Amino acid sequence: MSLQDLYQEIILDHGKSPRNFGELDPYTHEAEGFNPLCGDQVRLMVRIADGKIEDLKFSGHGCAISTASASMMTQLLKGKSVEDALKLVDKFRKAMTEDGDHGDMGELGCLSGVREFPNRVKCATLAWHALKSAVTTGGKVTTE
Ligand code: FES
Repeated sequence: MSLQDLYQEIILDHGKSPRNFGELDPYTHEAEGFNPLCGDQVRLMVRIADGKIEDLKFSGHGCAISTASASMMTQLLKGKSVEDALKLVDKFRKAMTEDGDHGDMGELGCLSGVREFPNRVKCATLAWHALKSAVTTGGKVTTE
């Protein structure tokens, strides 16, 4: 199996069986991400206590890439401080848009192929925009 096949399989797995998908109750922060190119949207609900993300979930509808990215993101950010989460959002956004070595991205590395396709970058970063909005200003954000 090539690395590309493995990446494809990870994306499909998360896309079909997203982790942390559903409604979070209770939550303290929320935001919606909207991709006007396709009409897909994701809602992020986060429970923060003492500056730490206790739990987070997402709902909505999107393509396999946006769903897989949201699923991986929720797994990674659970238990992290808000500060560390925001750093990771920034690192991920750079890894998806800028060439060069971005260090070990773990499972997220399987999304790096989208860099060549600006429209797919919007899919991969949709939930991340929403997460950033949820823990900072709140409200609706778009990928434009
Ligand atoms: Fe809509 Fe990917 S095609 S988010």
